[in-house]
Amino acid sequence: MSHVLDVDFISLKDVKFAAKAAKTVPATTLVILAGVDGALGKATKTILGEAAAFVAKAATAAQFKGAAKSTMELLAPHGLSVDRLLVVGTHQAKKADPQAQDGLINLGGFIQGKLGRAAKVVVVFDPPEGEHSAADAADLMLGLKLRAYKFDTYKTKKKPDDEGAEPAKVQIEIAVTNPAEVRAQLPARQGLANGISLARDLVNEPANILYPVEFAKRAKQLEKLGVKVEILDVKAMQKLGMGALLGVGQGSVRESRMVVMHWNGAKAARGKAKSEAKPIAFIGKGVCFDTGGISIKPAGGMEDMKGDMAGAACVVGLMHALASRKAKVNVIGAIGLVENMPDGNAQRPGDIVKTMSGQTVEVINTDAEGRLVLADVLWYVQHKYQPGFMINLATLTGAILVALGKEYAGLFSNNDELSARLSAAGQATGEKVWRMPMGPAYDKMLDSQFADMKNIGGRNAGSITAAQFLQRFVNETPWAHLDIAGTGMGSPSSDINQSWGSGWGVRLLDKLVADHYEH
Ligand code: BES
Ligand code: MN
Ligand code: ZN
Repeated sequence: MSHVLDVDFISLKDVKFAAKAAKTVPATTLVILAGVDGALGKATKTILGEAAAFVAKAATAAQFKGAAKSTMELLAPHGLSVDRLLVVGTHQAKKADPQAQDGLINLGGFIQGKLGRAAKVVVVFDPPEGEHSAADAADLMLGLKLRAYKFDTYKTKKKPDDEGAEPAKVQIEIAVTNPAEVRAQLPARQGLANGISLARDLVNEPANILYPVEFAKRAKQLEKLGVKVEILDVKAMQKLGMGALLGVGQGSVRESRMVVMHWNGAKAARGKAKSEAKPIAFIGKGVCFDTGGISIKPAGGMEDMKGDMAGAACVVGLMHALASRKAKVNVIGAIGLVENMPDGNAQRPGDIVKTMSGQTVEVINTDAEGRLVLADVLWYVQHKYQPGFMINLATLTGAILVALGKEYAGLFSNNDELSARLSAAGQATGEKVWRMPMGPAYDKMLDSQFADMKNIGGRNAGSITAAQFLQRFVNETPWAHLDIAGTGMGSPSSDINQSWGSGWGVRLLDKLVADHYEH
């Protein structure tokens, strides 16, 4: 990842661009916000001084109406000591989704996308419409950061002077009424931005670099933030009887691992030590590369299967975000890390494996491997920690792409309250989930002639039978499974994401935790 943005907050009062103040605040680009018909806020007008009339005249000439996602760019603007004035429209003709809270994050991303090669920028955060808080200004920063994310680790021919290339460092100052208040929000927002970047990095990394042992090593870095990180190797998992997870990894020269991360942030409650508060748990599919195994996938597009660990990446990114803001909650993050390869030692179709739960599985298709990995991790977490809930994330089925495309992740759950909370967090963050049906008729499709179950259910309802399979390893614990095959990678570029690995789910789950589980 490259960090090209250096963001700071200053007071609106300190922004002076009138020609005579030229030397006090140097900037190459000044960004201001405009509302309906180009209306400017009071502070913005003060900053522009006599240039305000010039800006109004330009808006009329350019027929700039201040609509959201429209901009007006003035070069070498008369009366201002900047190279460029960027006027960004914010007016929404249609009322936005009342539950959505991602407007300012997206605005920040949109602005960052328009900055081009500017090296020094001042953004005047003085929205002409509606009420705005310190959290909103911090959201704007989050959007700027997310949009600026770039994965260029392996580009050896970076030429900063090339057309379209960015300068080495961009310095952005966001001018707000209350910089001290906004600064108080920064560690949390910064932690969230870094957690998302970390998740994106992990998804973008190629599988020759990021194999299970290396992935575990990167998760171990969370210890710097106070997260306790346990790594279980093959021997430890054999001892636990994790035959399903280990069966998937047995065809790879890269050894499997399971990583369990602990963040104990809950406050001490009524005579109990803080570590005794019931934890919540997030579980991720970490197939570092999925060839399909002996049921090998076709060559076209197989390179995308380096991202088959997006669920695990999200869990690590989330733990980073939660620990960074010292979330007042006890959280377990558990990821199953394997590589699914065809090999002389690989698992065969028809093989029967014994899961940690004791249930046996007939492996009809070695490409339905994610559920085998999750079966053992879910069981382990449920039994060892008795969490208040378990949410797993997995790039589990191509079928979820057929059903929902890249707009929504599939939500499967045994619990209405948890589902409703996830749906609400999805609307608020824009990381949306759509609940899919489950039931005994689907479950029956997994019955096997030779074992307790098969690992596939046939042609129909592929995403649902995958979820039914997982549910066989969940008892009474409230549980939700998010199928992120469509959203975790290769999703369309947006205002806040231009990266292949999207880091999907970190904001969703950070919001879920913040809204309901901290105390
Ligand atoms: N990792 C894939 C699912 C996937 C597909 C993720 C496309 C992202 C993009 C998963 O392991 C898989 O191969 N699923 C099979 C299941 C089938 C064999 C029942 C699938 O979806 O085809
Ligand atoms: Mn597969
Ligand atoms: Zn897979």
